[in-house]
Amino acid sequence: MKSNQSNIKKAKKYLNNNCCIGVPTETVYGLAANAYADSAVKKIFNLKKRPKSNPLIVHYQNLDSLKRDCLINDNFIKLYKTISPGPITYILKLKKTSKISKYVTNNQKNLAVRFPSHKIFKGLLKQLNYPLAAPSANITTQVSAVKAADVKEEFGKKIKYVLDGGKCSVGIESTIINLTGRPTILRLGGLDISKIQKILKIKIDVNINPKKKNSPGQSHLHYSPGIPLKMNVNKPSKNSAFILIKKRKTRSDNYYYLSTKKNLNEAARNLYSCLRKIKNSGYKSISVEKIPNQGLGKVINDRLTRASKF
Ligand code: TXA
Ligand code: MG
Repeated sequence: MKSNQSNIKKAKKYLNNNCCIGVPTETVYGLAANAYADSAVKKIFNLKKRPKSNPLIVHYQNLDSLKRDCLINDNFIKLYKTISPGPITYILKLKKTSKISKYVTNNQKNLAVRFPSHKIFKGLLKQLNYPLAAPSANITTQVSAVKAADVKEEFGKKIKYVLDGGKCSVGIESTIINLTGRPTILRLGGLDISKIQKILKIKIDVNINPKKKNSPGQSHLHYSPGIPLKMNVNKPSKNSAFILIKKRKTRSDNYYYLSTKKNLNEAARNLYSCLRKIKNSGYKSISVEKIPNQGLGKVINDRLTRASKF
């Protein structure tokens, strides 16, 4: 704990100087900066090579700090009380008096907000008098980071500090729900939609491949290891890395397991490390066996489908 405290202090110093740093969350690592400071937010877009039109998620410590910037509604309160902090992001309306930098939302009137449950990240937010804008800590379109070392691999010396919080426990990004009108899922993620449905007791729309700009980041290639990826493969070619959902008795150098016994939570946790490992091993293509399309398996399939658009 002591070493955490001194690392949090260090992180705070960088953030107060409007620097971007890597931060751990329960989903994936974030590239964080002061969401109230234009110059800090601009650095995030440059480092990630992210189009300015693709808005960022802002991370808050608690409801009181959120209320300064956003208008809240009944659906939000119901969900917040039951499932935050955790892997869910809410789209809410910005208040006219909000201090959020216009670069965060590209001048839009809605803001994506999240309450992370990772202990160290929470500890950091508690120390700050501003919220943190933080997209996933990877270069745009590439594989997300789930360890401090992944963040270093993505940005090298371009960022000065990564707050190390170990391996991400969920390992896949948050679920995004738009609550500015009829509740609509904009991205599948770490929190199962059925939980949301149970709480709101209404049918939730799902619009994860928008033609328009509701969630711009969802319409392009994402999560790509930079080589062709094929899904639902039974027999891969010899030179292809083969991703399997459970361990096999026969061994082969090109086999990569997502879980020991077809556990989809474990598989989600291992997905990005697995893609990163394969990318760094010099394979020219990836084949993936069929992943059950249920629970986090749906999210894994969503990410793999996007990665296969390479
Ligand atoms: O788990 C997560 O959500 C991670 C951690 C670091 O919190 N963050 C993350 O951020 O995945 P990012 O930037 O990689 O993905 C955020 C997605 C993008 O697709 C973006 O287009 C969408 O959220 N988004 C952000 N603000 C939005 C808004 N106001 N309306 C609709 N979509 C928005
Ligand atoms: Mg991302």
